[in-house]
Amino acid sequence: MAPGLLFTDQHGDVAQLHGVGIRRYDGVFYAWGEDKTHGGAFGGVACYSSPDLATWTFLGHALAVDGAVPDLAPGRVIERPKVLRSAAGTYVMLLHVESADYGYARVGWAISDRPEGPYTYLHSERPLGNISRDIGVFMDDDGTGYLLSEDREHGLHVYRLAPDLLSVEEIVSTTLTPPSDHPAGPHGYESPTMVKHDGLYYLFGSDLTGWSTNDNKYATAPSPAGPWSEWRDFAPPGSATYDSQVSVVVPVAGSETTSHVYAGDRWSRDDLYHSAPVWLPMRIQDGRAELEWRDTWTIDPATGVIS
Ligand code: DGJ
Repeated sequence: MAPGLLFTDQHGDVAQLHGVGIRRYDGVFYAWGEDKTHGGAFGGVACYSSPDLATWTFLGHALAVDGAVPDLAPGRVIERPKVLRSAAGTYVMLLHVESADYGYARVGWAISDRPEGPYTYLHSERPLGNISRDIGVFMDDDGTGYLLSEDREHGLHVYRLAPDLLSVEEIVSTTLTPPSDHPAGPHGYESPTMVKHDGLYYLFGSDLTGWSTNDNKYATAPSPAGPWSEWRDFAPPGSATYDSQVSVVVPVAGSETTSHVYAGDRWSRDDLYHSAPVWLPMRIQDGRAELEWRDTWTIDPATGVIS
């Protein structure tokens, strides 16, 4: 992997791994990304598989543009596809479902019996009445699923999902950027993702700066319900997170170690299709998270060792 360079698939096409969600099932990494063929407008959720997070096979559109479904129609905006597998074995995709003016602000659900789909679209809603734009998901060791959702009117919410993952049950915590930075009112973080390591929960997010990058931050807590620590930098301050925005942090558990892979986007606002992935090793240890710059690197999926 070389951060800042595009991945290509088995056909030589640019892998559409934007706003990506990644899970590992039966030893295979699956990635669901925003297909930016139509720029910001919905071009489908592209699904890829990989043995090593570096070589990608395009498996088709897990969720395609569909003029017969208002939420999936051409011209809509759908971002940050994230998948979890329920205890019953259903693959549940959560999405940021939008209108072109970003006023819709809803979460959508789709389901499939296979990770690569095709997924059946169910519906969208504002969870508990709250606006919801960027999302992330998290599944705890006990199978409890969570939705992480940006609601600038109140802050970044962690919602507990129902056991079938198909609805939101309650907000377990909400965090805000320092109120002094936002005298006009609440704000919070976007592009959220969460991991658990050595019993501690790490929540990552970015500031709200559109397609521009900023110094992304993280907080830690003993539970998804908090209490969350102060938010801190995980990349050198001023580097704008090596000019990227966090999309997901992926734990890779191997025979020797558990490593973490940061997958971020370097958005090209005028050419979103070619927005570059900035994927880097992340050291997570003793309550601290730190992004480590590498010009090129690999991860051994069997051992978890990064070199
Ligand atoms: C920032 C978000 O993180 C992206 O997913 C996208 O919605 C852009 N804003 C749009 O400006």
